[in-house]
Amino acid sequence: MAERSSFVVVANRLPVDEVIVDGERQWRPSPGGLVTALHPVLMEHRGTWIGWAGGDGEAPDPFELEGINIHPVPLSAEELERYYEGQSNATIWPLYHDAVETPVYKRRWREAYRIVNERFAKAAAEVAEEGATVWVQDYQLQLVPAMLRDMRPDLRIGFFLHIPFPPIELFMQMPFRAEILRGLLGADLVGFQQRLAAQNFVRLARHLLGLRYEGQSIQVDGRKVKAGAFPISIDTKDMERLAADPRVQARAKEIRGELGNPETIILGVDRLDYTKGIELRLKAFRELLADGKLKVPDAVMVQVATPSRERVEHYQTLRVKVEREVGRINGEFGKVGMPAVHYLHQSMSKQELAALYVAADVMMVTPLRDGMNLVAKEYVACRSDKGGALVLSEFAGAATELRQAFLCNPHDPDGVKDALLRAVAAEPAELKRRIRVMQRHLRTHDVAEWARAFLKELGVTEGSESLDSKPV
Ligand code: ADP
Ligand code: G6P
Repeated sequence: MAERSSFVVVANRLPVDEVIVDGERQWRPSPGGLVTALHPVLMEHRGTWIGWAGGDGEAPDPFELEGINIHPVPLSAEELERYYEGQSNATIWPLYHDAVETPVYKRRWREAYRIVNERFAKAAAEVAEEGATVWVQDYQLQLVPAMLRDMRPDLRIGFFLHIPFPPIELFMQMPFRAEILRGLLGADLVGFQQRLAAQNFVRLARHLLGLRYEGQSIQVDGRKVKAGAFPISIDTKDMERLAADPRVQARAKEIRGELGNPETIILGVDRLDYTKGIELRLKAFRELLADGKLKVPDAVMVQVATPSRERVEHYQTLRVKVEREVGRINGEFGKVGMPAVHYLHQSMSKQELAALYVAADVMMVTPLRDGMNLVAKEYVACRSDKGGALVLSEFAGAATELRQAFLCNPHDPDGVKDALLRAVAAEPAELKRRIRVMQRHLRTHDVAEWARAFLKELGVTEGSESLDSKPV
């Protein structure tokens, strides 16, 4: 019997990585922003994190790690394909990102999504104490709130969507749209990255289910369901500390040297995902080289593309396209020992990533649509007072906050080129001023503040001082 908790997080992924030490399986915390922000609350409430441990087949038994109960949920190979790769990442992900790739609809994927959502809901119902708070995360688990409310009406349930929530016209494509909406409405509070997304949600509730709303409050079966915007952020202090670490600073210098000490290093860091606008960024760079506005080796680009969802077809075609474009640019503009684009299709440590942020003069974040984009915030936090330019798509959630970035419309190639050139040519004093304003914002709007604001709105106020940021 698993230990019961008064605070439960339910997310598709667990905040741990499996490592093999001397042939034995061990777990290490993988401290993303989310777990860092929630760690103090989880500690205070002997909290439990329910999630998939990766892989298929049997899940490990529940265990404790650094004061958090970890409760793994299994996925079979078929569920991995249908629930995770299919319904979550080939249907919902593209649909919610403006259908920048065509969503694929399959009945057997929906069925698997229901079954897996029910498994997560049951796990939460099992570990949650009477009257506990359960916080469900993201698009993979949209049916969980209603399922859980059915099983355990005593619980306080929050839901946060990390990705965009589409306008009504797009959402209406979804074959089991009413079920998804009812699923979300099982929560007491549904949080979004943007105000517009919250508005899409309340309007959809009226349009699809005829529900009444006042402001951001929807009336559902005699209950009130609140919707609101809670833009997520990073652990700013931790990122600043990391960037200031002498080893990271030394590594940044070394990276500049390895790249031939160019005048301008342009950096992209993304999961290899078609929403991120990697191709259009490469194309902008190629055209500027062709126009003679940028030159190798004065300017070089580094593109880190983290492997992601590699068995999903959209991702396979994207990889081919991106790698073809990198090859084309290097073929046309590279020199022996001097490629124009350094392309890294790999994961890396936070330290190496921070060193890249410190080394880069221009960071290009050009998604066609993105719920937030934490990479943009991480770059800003890493710059200390050195300046550095952020080219940022207006279609990233982060653009609402980081107004001093060089904003661009990723659908307009000339606009992207123009923003990149302005960023390259900007005076150091201007860059410093822009970065400073954005840094000030991130210091007060960090991930702990995000969690605090959400939980306060959900009514979890007691002990809220323990929500202060504390690294895991
Ligand atoms: P998304 O959640 O869609 O992947 P975000 O930009 O919001 O996009 O978050 C990505 C997170 O993954 C950031 O915290 C970033 O530091 C991390 N990350 C991106 N690429 C790598 C990589 N190659 N290795 C390790 N971490 C990475
Ligand atoms: C986005 C989603 C997360 C997801 C992450 C990585 O940030 O909002 O829910 O965990 O991408 O994707 P993956 O499919 O590897 O979990």
